[in-house]
Amino acid sequence: MHIDIFTLFPSMFTGPLTESILKRARETGKLSLALHDIRSWSVDKHHVVDDTPYGGGGGMIMKPEPIVAAIEDIIPRGTDIPVILLSPQGRVFTQDIAYRLSQNERLALVCGHYEGVDERAIDLVITDEISIGDYVLTGGELAAMIIVDAVVRLLPGVLGAPDAHRYDSHATGLLEGPHYTRPPMFRGQPAPDVLLSGHEAKIEKWRRQESLRRTWQRRPDLLLAAELSKDDKAFLFTLAQEEIERG
Ligand SMILES: C[S@@+](CC[C@H](N)C(=O)[O-])C[C@H]1O[C@@H](n2cnc3c(N)ncnc32)[C@H](O)[C@@H]1O
Repeated sequence: MHIDIFTLFPSMFTGPLTESILKRARETGKLSLALHDIRSWSVDKHHVVDDTPYGGGGGMIMKPEPIVAAIEDIIPRGTDIPVILLSPQGRVFTQDIAYRLSQNERLALVCGHYEGVDERAIDLVITDEISIGDYVLTGGELAAMIIVDAVVRLLPGVLGAPDAHRYDSHATGLLEGPHYTRPPMFRGQPAPDVLLSGHEAKIEKWRRQESLRRTWQRRPDLLLAAELSKDDKAFLFTLAQEEIERG
């Protein structure tokens, strides 16, 4: 996958994109990334990229010309490459959106700053707007890094095991259950016996039930949309009964 990132602050990306799994994805050619400094497309002799808002009010607005010129220069016209503006007004990012984005060979992420971007630039070159949550950041850079991270780990071969993300929270509409590793006893707390039993079917069943339990306890809203088997529903019914009995 190739990702173009348009930003006024390219140096913010050093670190998150040059460490760990993203670093390996780049080294193994599964990911190529190009950072484009929007300021380079400002024709103003002082490389001005923002201006005061028409109609007054505080803050500055990103001017339309450099953003539009940058995107038109880099993204070939007439293609279906998603050009996504990070924005608190966009649709809220989810694992499902990450999965859909990971199916593209190429993506563009555009980071706003200040009070936001002149609406005419959005109308001309942006195909989608994504928010990472219902709060306001100072710029789209951190949001872009979150999207790159969530999308790239879904690309084939990026994580060690091919289906390592199959049981992740939100991958199946549920939260993942708890994890344990060595030692078998830690400060008087044992790891669950079943995980040490080597019995694959029992481990699978335990994991499914703990995933259901955790979702029931922490995010019951997710259960409404999750795909549940007869056994899942029976297990949830016992959890509900236990809760009623506890009062
Ligand atoms: C201070 S914000 C502008 C907020 C804008 N005045 C509003 O109220 O909708 C500056 C930039 O940060 C980015 N940003 C802020 N919050 C975000 C969020 N929740 N998700 C994605 N991007 C965000 C966007 O690129 C935005 O253009």
